[in-house]
This record gives sequence, structure tokens and C-alpha cells, in this order.
Amino acid sequence: MKKEIQIFDTTLRDGEQVPGCKLNTQQKLEIAEALESLGVNVIEAGFPISSPGDFASVKAIASVVKHSTVCALSRSVKKDIDAARDALVHAKYPRIHTGIGTSDTHIKYKFKSTREAILERAVEAVKYAKQFVEDVEFYAEDAGRTDNEFLARVCREVIKAGATVLNIPDTTGYCLPSEYGEKIHYLYTNVDNIDKAILSTHCHNDLGLATANTVQGILNGARQVEVTINGIGERAGNTALEEVVMVIKQRLADSYSTTIRTEQLSGLSQLVSQKMAMPVQPNKAIVGENAFAHSSGIHQDGVIKNRENYEIIDPRDVGVDTSSIVLTARSGRAALAYRAKECGYNLYKNELDVAYAKFIQLADTKKEVGQDDLQSLLTNLFSTTH
Ligand code: KIV
Ligand code: ZN
Repeated sequence: MKKEIQIFDTTLRDGEQVPGCKLNTQQKLEIAEALESLGVNVIEAGFPISSPGDFASVKAIASVVKHSTVCALSRSVKKDIDAARDALVHAKYPRIHTGIGTSDTHIKYKFKSTREAILERAVEAVKYAKQFVEDVEFYAEDAGRTDNEFLARVCREVIKAGATVLNIPDTTGYCLPSEYGEKIHYLYTNVDNIDKAILSTHCHNDLGLATANTVQGILNGARQVEVTINGIGERAGNTALEEVVMVIKQRLADSYSTTIRTEQLSGLSQLVSQKMAMPVQPNKAIVGENAFAHSSGIHQDGVIKNRENYEIIDPRDVGVDTSSIVLTARSGRAALAYRAKECGYNLYKNELDVAYAKFIQLADTKKEVGQDDLQSLLTNLFSTTH
């Protein structure tokens, strides 16, 4: 039987921590509604204790979202958990996400504490949150650099205290895919009460490994992935939702599924980019402007013969109408003929030779020969014959 991977979107919390990306309540609401329509299982709406504005945003989102779980972040601090509880009061499916740093680095330098004291705080926080909501997620911050044996102990104890989800963040984007996969496997096999909770990935992209690490997490027993649209987030960002979802759809569909309506991915990427004033890099996997654009002669010829020669995803599956053939100085005759035909010019071979000679001269002077350039080139050459 296929295992369904829960998609936990943290665009509005971890994603919004990016400098300059702050959203107001109205903007957050619009994105939350789009995320629900996309089919995400959990929306992490914010960190209510952090500001009155974020509290209001979480509360507003909790009031309108009807199908997805709405989650609020807190530290292992009672007043944080109280704020999360109050902000989630109208949520149909509320989740409190609480946690604490568990790596020796965090314990020594951030908390000036000991493993035993941290374990105690973790358990207390989960027990406290559990009084208010059934669904409590625990994060072991910097789990990527946490000793596995201690991490397993923390997981065991917080599950006993009532945690339903164990978030294993690679907070600093430190792990190699093999290490992160082994960590999830270790927890899956060494935490004796793991059947009472699910493991979640939460990978940062400091070494560009966030998606690879998340996939290794899935393959080793994680049943929830924490992701953001366009991979936005602190520093180099979080795991991109669209990448993990499409890895599952294109490569792992025999064993795993998600509830995501992938044809909404491109539109949502643009919505988030626009609201956060954060452009998407053109070569970004799945949602970048060039993800389905072909500009070199060899590739264009291959795509025109059959799209699958150079594309492993049907662009319509992610909400892009069609692949594009971009005309540049690297383009060949096949591409020019194809684009000319789109402009209404079905060129004979000798006409194509003439047009190509003109085209390549023009292309050498510009980055791209656009639709208007092409149209005027063809009109000048063939308006009397076509
Ligand atoms: O990266 C991280 O560790 C986090 C936690 C607060 C969940 O974002
Ligand atoms: Zn994070």
C-alpha cells in the first residue's frame, strides 16, 4: 500500500523569517487560502508570541481554514504555548508546535544548560501544550547535529508526554543526505514507542542539500515533510515544497503519495513571490521561468520531435501551459521553423535558409530574439509571398 506523505507548509512561518519578506494579515490570509486549495495537510501560520501582528495573523488564518490543520510555533516556554493556544482558538484542527535545541552546541552556548535539564524542559512543554490541544508537534532544534542516542531519548520521552509528531530539523543545513537518512532510520528503529507518533523532516538548504535530505528522510521512515513555497526561508532557505512533491510524483509514486494538486504549483509560486517581493531564480527547479524553456539548437530539435527527449515533467502537471522554444544565437533551424510556423509562416527549405541567415545575424546582437523581432523579420522577408 502507498504511504501518504503529509505536507507541512511553513511558508508563513519559517519562510516569512526572511528579511524583507514580512507579510501583513491580509497577505498571509490570501496565501493560507491558496495553500489550503493546493491541498497541504498542515499550514504553519506563524509564531504568535513574536508580535501582536503575527498573533492576529495566526488567529485570522485559524478562523478561515477549514480542511488543513493550522499550526502555531512556540518555544518550550509557557507564555509562548499560551499565545499559540489563544491564537488557535478558532482552528478546526489546531496543532501546537513546541520544542527546544538538543545539540550539544545549542545546549552549551544557547541555553548554558545540560542534556538532563533540556530533556526535562522538552517533556514539560509537551505536557503543558497537551492540556490545550490533542495534536502536539515537538521540534528538536539542531537535530542534524544532535547525538543520535540522546535524540532518541528525547523522542521517546516527548512521545510519552503526548507528542504526536516529532520534527527532526537539520536547522543549519549541515547533514549529508546519507547522514540525515541514517538519523531518521535510527529514530525509526530505536525509539520503542515510535508507533505512537510520526517523524517529520525539516531541512535547511545551507549546502544546497535540503531536497536531497528530505527525500532521504522519506525513504527512511519520515511521514511528514516541512517545506516552503519556492524554498524560501532563513539564510539559504528551507526545502522547496514543489521539489519534494514532484520528486514523489515523478520518481516515488509506486510507494508514496501526497494530496497536492500539482497543477496549482506554478500559480502559487508566483503569488508567494509577488506578495513577498522575492523573485524566483529563473533556473529554479519546477517553478523557475526557465524550467520548461529550451534555447540551444540540439535540445530544441529534440523537444520539437518529442517533448520527452529533454523534459521529465509535463509542464501542464505543474500549471505551465506549454514548454517554450526560446530563440537565441544558439538556436538552430528547427526552432526557427517551429516559431515561424506559430507566427503563420510555414517556410520551405530555401526560405528557411534565407530567414535563418538573417535571424542568426540579429540573434548575435541580442540575448533573445523576441516575438516582435521575429514577426518583423518574417514580414520583411516574406510579406509578398506568404
Ligand atoms: O529550523 C528549525 O530548527 C526550525 C524550528 C524552529 C522548527 O525552524
Ligand atoms: Zn527551520
